[in-house]
Amino acid sequence: MFSKETYINRRNKLKSDVKSGILLFLGNDESGMNYADNTYHFRQDSTFLYFFGSDYAGLNAIIDIDENREIIFGDELTIDHIVWMGSQPTIKEKSEHVGINETAPAAQLKTYLESVISKGRKIHYLPPYRPEHQVKLFELLDIIPSKANAGQSIDFVKAVVNQRNYKSQEEIVLLDDAVNITADMHLAAMRMARPGMKESEIAAAVQQVAIAAGGQLSFPVIATINGQTLHNHYHGNTLKSGDLFLLDCGAENSMHYAGDMSSTFPVDKTFTTRQKEIYQIALNAHEAAIDMLAPGVKFKDIHLKAGRTIAEGMKDMGFMKGDLDAAVQQGAHALFFQCGLGHMMGMDVHDMENLGEVYVGYNGEPKSTQFGLKSLRLGRELEENFVLTIEPGIYFIPELIDMWKAENRFSEFINYDKVEQYKDFGGCRNEEDFLITKDGARLLGKPIPKTIADVEAQR
Ligand code: GLY
Ligand code: MN
Repeated sequence: MFSKETYINRRNKLKSDVKSGILLFLGNDESGMNYADNTYHFRQDSTFLYFFGSDYAGLNAIIDIDENREIIFGDELTIDHIVWMGSQPTIKEKSEHVGINETAPAAQLKTYLESVISKGRKIHYLPPYRPEHQVKLFELLDIIPSKANAGQSIDFVKAVVNQRNYKSQEEIVLLDDAVNITADMHLAAMRMARPGMKESEIAAAVQQVAIAAGGQLSFPVIATINGQTLHNHYHGNTLKSGDLFLLDCGAENSMHYAGDMSSTFPVDKTFTTRQKEIYQIALNAHEAAIDMLAPGVKFKDIHLKAGRTIAEGMKDMGFMKGDLDAAVQQGAHALFFQCGLGHMMGMDVHDMENLGEVYVGYNGEPKSTQFGLKSLRLGRELEENFVLTIEPGIYFIPELIDMWKAENRFSEFINYDKVEQYKDFGGCRNEEDFLITKDGARLLGKPIPKTIADVEAQR
C-alpha cells in the first residue's frame, strides 16, 4: 500500500476536478465460479484501489464533494467468515490506512444515497463492467441494467482518467517490477520449449513464475503455435518441429500493477528462412515505432508508421504492391496487421478499458471505424508519464484471407497468389512496455531477446 498521503492527494485532486455532487465507488465482491464458496481469485476494482487502497471484497465508498465527507461502507467479518478465511483489519482500520475517518455498515450506503436523491443532488458513478455492479446500481439507485451505462458520469470518468493516465514515480517503480517478472516469464518459456511439449506445459511454467513472485497473471496466458489468432487461449496443441510459438503473457504484481509482453520464437533451435523473413519485418515495425515514442507525438501516427513499415516489408517480399501511401491510408496492410499497435497499461493491462477507450486513449475524440484502426486502443498525443505497450505483429488468418480474396478487396495492393502460399504461416509479435519520458521513452523492466540472433541464442 502507498502512504496515506498518496490516497488523500488523489482524492483531493478528484474532488477539485469533478467540483460537485457525490462520487460513488463500487468495490468488487467475491464471485463464485460454480458455487458461492468456490470463488474466482478476488480482484479489487482498480479505481477503488487507486483512491481507497483497500484490497478486500465487500466495500463501497462515497466522496460527498459538497459536504466534504469521505465514507467507506462495509460490514465487519462474522466469526463464520473468520473461521473460513481468517481475520482481517476492521473496516475502520482499513479506512484509516488511507486517511479516511468515516465508516459505516454496508446497508447505510442506500440510506445515504436516498437522502442525497431526495435533495436532488447529483450522484456520479462509473460505467459498470461486472453484473454485480449492475445489481448494486439497481439496488442503490433504481437504475435498470440496460440503462446503467447511459447514466455514467462522464465528468467522473474524465477526472479518473486524468489522474490514472499519468503514472507517479512510486507507480513507475511498481510497473518496472511487474514488467521484470513478465520478462522472466518469457525467458522461462524461451528456454524450455521443445518439440513434443504441450502448449499447456509452457502456459503452466509462465504462470508459475508470476505466482512465485507473489502476484498473479495480468490476463489469461496466450501460449500458442497458432499465433494468428490474436487472443488464443487454447493450450491443447503439441509443439512440433517447424512451428512458430507465440507467447503473450504478463504478471500482475502484489500491488496490482501489470506487465504485458509478447515474444515469438521457433519451436526448433533456429527460425526457418520464411519465419525469419516475416519476423524481421514485424521487428522492423516494432523498432520504427519505438523510435517515434516521445511526448507530443500522436500514437495513431506511430501506429500508421508501424503499418507502413509492415507494408514496405510485405511489398519487398511480393505480398503487397502498388502505392503504399494509398494502401496504408485505406487500410490494406490490415490483412496482415489487424490490431492496434499498443495500449495504455497500469493497474489494468489495458488500463481503464472499463472507463472507455475514447476517454483513455483518444481524449474524447472519436475512434476510426476502419478495419485495423478500429482496434487501436490508443490514438491520442503522448504525454510524459504515460505507460504503454508497443506490439505490432504480422498474422496470416486463413478465414480473413479467403474473405478478402473472394471480395477482391484491395486487389490493387495485395498479391493474393503470394499470400495463399503463407496461409499456414501463423503469426508473430513482439511486445514491450514503455514509459514516456520528458524527451522520449524508456523501456520498462529488463529487455528480453528480440533480434533473430538473440532469440536463437536462448533456444
Ligand atoms: N497482451 C494482451 C493484450 O494486449 O490484449
Ligand atoms: Mn498488450
